[in-house]
Amino acid sequence: MKAFIFDLDGVIVDTAKYHYLAWKNLANELGFDFTEEQNEQLKGVSRVRSLEILLNIGKVELSEEKKEELLLEKNNEYLEYVNKMNTEEILPGIVELLDFLEYQKIQFALGSASKNAPLILKKVGLYHKFSAIVDGNDVSKAKPDPEVFLIAAKKLNTDPQDCIVIEDALAGIQAANIAGMTSVAIGDKKLLHEANYNLADTEELNIDFVKNLII
Ligand code: BG6
Ligand code: MG
Repeated sequence: MKAFIFDLDGVIVDTAKYHYLAWKNLANELGFDFTEEQNEQLKGVSRVRSLEILLNIGKVELSEEKKEELLLEKNNEYLEYVNKMNTEEILPGIVELLDFLEYQKIQFALGSASKNAPLILKKVGLYHKFSAIVDGNDVSKAKPDPEVFLIAAKKLNTDPQDCIVIEDALAGIQAANIAGMTSVAIGDKKLLHEANYNLADTEELNIDFVKNLII
């Protein structure tokens, strides 16, 4: 029996834009610019690692204490956006897909790097739908390490080779591949060519596509 593991940011909801706004403001405050293209490097990456990448881009060196302060500041701004979220922010096709999987009695879990994942799922009314939720609070190693997906497979009682991972970040596709799972990428094919399947957006993640994966 197959099972699905969904990434959150960029797959279920478009929170990537809020992460970007909060990081951009922080960069501006520190005196440098941060483009959307550079933001691609932060997708799927943990909060702490994201700050390291950002500081590297701006060639800024800071004390551990200051970094802690900035992490808190970034997350507080991000949470202001998150707290305004509602069901309208669920990406196209996702609700239909989760309903279809439920109807087919196919299990699905969340496998996200975000420590805010439970809050976000509650804000968009999807928290109760997942058989298991594995997030940034549960892992010691960030994607591309497969830990997050392997814990999710265990919680679903499913062999990794029967798990299908839906991801929008390169680090996440690599994690799925290392875990021996089927990887489905959402987004730029050039960037995500390591995936087993490439889709342009969540609208392409429709029931016909999914039916072919589970037979
Ligand atoms: C990932 C996002 O899902 O979660 C990253 O793609 C983000 O951009 C990471 O840094 C950690 O999220 P949070 O909510 O714990 O800061
Ligand atoms: Mg993502």
